[in-house]
Amino acid sequence: MAINVNLNDPALIDALAVKTAAVRSLLRQIYEEFSPAVFANSLGAEDMVLTDLIVGGNLDIESFSLDTGRLPLETYALIAEVKEHYGLTLKLYYPRHDLVEAYTRENGINAFYESVELRKGCCHARKVEPLQRALAGKKAWITGMRAQQSATREGLPIRVYDEGNGLEKFNPLSDWTEKEVWAYIKLNKVPYNALHDRFYPSIGCAPCTRAITPGEDVRSGRWWWEQPESKECGLHVKKA
Ligand code: ADX
Ligand code: SF4
Repeated sequence: MAINVNLNDPALIDALAVKTAAVRSLLRQIYEEFSPAVFANSLGAEDMVLTDLIVGGNLDIESFSLDTGRLPLETYALIAEVKEHYGLTLKLYYPRHDLVEAYTRENGINAFYESVELRKGCCHARKVEPLQRALAGKKAWITGMRAQQSATREGLPIRVYDEGNGLEKFNPLSDWTEKEVWAYIKLNKVPYNALHDRFYPSIGCAPCTRAITPGEDVRSGRWWWEQPESKECGLHVKKA
């Protein structure tokens, strides 16, 4: 959620300045050495920090979003706000209609609640297959993942070769804390998803995301009916 941060805390501001400078120079290096590189933008808080840095750095790195067709209205509103605020049109990728039609006819409209297998099937049709098209022909992709987000992301490297997709993968905010993300957003007046102010720290598709109570793990509102170790949608294979 949009957590309260003390912008007068010198330790926080100093750490943020150092980390911001490091991400700026990493993004420039990605642009210089790995073009064409793309940024997978889910419009979450971390991704808004990266949006601000990519646009601010005037880097020709394309931002794309996977529109699953089941995103919350607030996320669509933010896509429009990003266009207005930054003049940035996100490239939207859609699921293949034949895959979604086959899935829903066979399993039902909300089958993802029934089993991990059916949930992963929906994520495959609506996210993973479109991601593969978004990454085709690219040298690198960038995500907004942080190591502290969940058990599945512990030890997340800043740079790793993504074997599954066959290109370099960068997680520039890997070592950032949630506080640093929100300090950046507040200091730089970055637009963010309205759901963050309603106890949604992590936002995915509407039917698979709910609000959390303070103190709960930041990703506990995602696929909340599943065990923590199964909570990846297939966009991010292990260690990549
Ligand atoms: S995930 O399990 O849905 O992938 P999360 O929402 O924490 O988890 O997203 C992690 C990263 O995956 C985001 O920072 C972003 O780079 C990428 N990502 C997730 N969802 C999307 C999406 N719909 N469109 C583009 N990128 C996405
Ligand atoms: Fe389907 Fe839910 Fe995955 Fe979205 S998060 S693609 S609705 S299972």
